[in-house]
Amino acid sequence: MVCCGRSLDSPCTLALLVGFQFAFVVYFSLGGFRGLVSVLVHSEQPEFDYSRPHDVYTNLSHLGAPPAPHIGTGPPGTGAQLKDCKVPSPLLVGPVSVRLSSPLSLEEIRERNPLVLPGGRYSPPDCEPCHHTAIVVPYRNRQTHLRALLYHLHPFLQRQQIHYSIYIVQQWGNSTFNRAKLLNVGVREALRDEDWGCIFLHDVDLLPENDHNTYTCHNQFPTHLSVAMDKFRYRLPYPQYFGGVSAVTPEQYMKMNGFPNSYWGWGGEDDDIAARVRLSGMKIVRPPVAIGHYKMIKHKGDRGNEQNPRRFDLLKRTRLNWHSDGLNSLTYELLSKELQPLYTNLTVDIGDDPRLPQRKATPPMPKREVKGDELPPLVPWSKHGSKRRGDTPLAAEHDVKGEGQAVKGGVVTAVTTAKPKADKVDHAQSKTVHQTVDERAGGVK
Ligand SMILES: *[C@@H]1O[C@H](CO)[C@@H](O)[C@H](O)[C@H]1NC(C)=O
Ligand SMILES: *[C@@H]1O[C@H](CO)[C@@H](O)[C@H](O)[C@H]1NC(C)=O
Ligand SMILES: *[C@@H]1O[C@H](CO)[C@@H](O)[C@H](O)[C@H]1NC(C)=O
Repeated sequence: MVCCGRSLDSPCTLALLVGFQFAFVVYFSLGGFRGLVSVLVHSEQPEFDYSRPHDVYTNLSHLGAPPAPHIGTGPPGTGAQLKDCKVPSPLLVGPVSVRLSSPLSLEEIRERNPLVLPGGRYSPPDCEPCHHTAIVVPYRNRQTHLRALLYHLHPFLQRQQIHYSIYIVQQWGNSTFNRAKLLNVGVREALRDEDWGCIFLHDVDLLPENDHNTYTCHNQFPTHLSVAMDKFRYRLPYPQYFGGVSAVTPEQYMKMNGFPNSYWGWGGEDDDIAARVRLSGMKIVRPPVAIGHYKMIKHKGDRGNEQNPRRFDLLKRTRLNWHSDGLNSLTYELLSKELQPLYTNLTVDIGDDPRLPQRKATPPMPKREVKGDELPPLVPWSKHGSKRRGDTPLAAEHDVKGEGQAVKGGVVTAVTTAKPKADKVDHAQSKTVHQTVDERAGGVK
C-alpha cells in the first residue's frame, strides 16, 4: 500500500524501477541470455560468398546410390525401408552460378538429370523425403526461359533431397495473360495428381542462387522466397511484396480462398494475394535476405501481358471480393496434360479478358486425344494424408460464402469433368470445370 503514492520521485517508485532492472538482468543472465544472443544472431545474416559460386550440377553424382538391394522384397523402393532424408541435405553447396540462358537443348538437360521421371518428377532414391513440393509455373511463349529454368531448377532441387514435380501451366489462346488464375489452375491440377504438402508459385524467369533456400513450406504461414532479386538490387522492393517465388500449403491456400481470377495483364495480382494472406489471418514469412537471392532473366514486356490498368481499382476491392473471387469461383477447361521428360505440360483455356472486344480471342485448340495411360493415377487425398500429416481433415472448418453458394471444407482434389480415369479425356465434355465440393471432409459445416 505504501507504494501507491502518486509522486514519481517517491522512494517506492525508485525501488520498483531498481527491482525491474534487477529482474531484467537476472532474466538475461540465466535462461534469457541465450535467447538474447539468438535474437542478435538471428538478426545478423548468415554469410555466403556469392563471388565464388558452385556449378549448379555440383554433387549431383552423389545422388542415385540407393542402399544395397534388399533381397526378396520385390522391386527396389517398395520393400526396403529407407531412412528419412537428412535435413538440411548434406549435398547443399550454397551459392550456385546462374546461367540466364541454357545453352543446352531439352534433350541434353534431360541427359544431365537422369533421375528425373516423366512429368518432371523426382524423389530421392536413397532416402525417404520429408518434403513433397509441387512447383507451379504460369507460362506462355517463353521457351528460352523455360529451358534456363529447367536446366537450373532440376539439379538445385535434387540436391535438396525433396520429392517434387514441375508443372508448367500454359495459357491457351491470345487473350491477356492471367498469372493468378493460371496459378489457381496449377494448384488444382497438381493436387489431383498427388497429396503435395507444399505448392510453389514460381515465375518462369527467376533462378534461385543459393540452394540453402529450400523449396519447402512453413507449416503455418505462406512463404515468400524471392526476397532478394538482382532486379531490385538484392532487396525487398516493399514490405508486402509477394511476387516472384512464393509458397503455400494446401491448407493455407484454401484458407485464403486461393488467388484472384480477375487480374488480366501485368501487375497487382501478387499484392492481392498478399492482401488475402492478411485478410485470412495469416502473415508472410521469409528466408533471410542472404539466402533468398534470385536472378531474373531479362526480357522485354510480353505481348498479351500489358500492364493491367484496373489493378489499383481491383486491389481496393480485395477486402470485399476475396471471399467470392478465387478458388470457389474458378472455371477453366483443361485442354491437355502431357508428361514431358522434364515437366508436366498443362494447357488450359481460362477464358477471355472481359475488357477485350467481343470477338473470341481464344481460337479453338486443335483436337488431340490424351490417352488415359498418359495421365498419372488420381491419388485419393486420404491415401497419404493420414500417413504424413495426421488425420486432421483439411481445413474442414473453412467456410466461404460466395454468391449464394457455400464452399465447404472442400478438398482441392475436386474432379473436373475431364476425369483421368476415363480412357480418353473428351474435350467436348470438359467444357466447364465446376468447383466440386468434396463432401468427404467430415467436419463440413
Ligand atoms: C558437395 O560439394 C561440396 C563442394 O564441392 C563438397 O565440399 C562436399 O563434400 C560435397 N558433398 C558431398 C556429400 O559429397
Ligand atoms: C504444351 O502442350 C501444348 C498442347 O499440346 C503445346 O501446344 C505446347 O507447345 C506445349 N508446351 C510446352 C512448353 O511444352
Ligand atoms: C493468336 O496469335 C497467333 C500468333 O501470334 C496467331 O497466329 C493467331 O492467328 C492468333 N489467333 C487469334 C484468334 O488472334
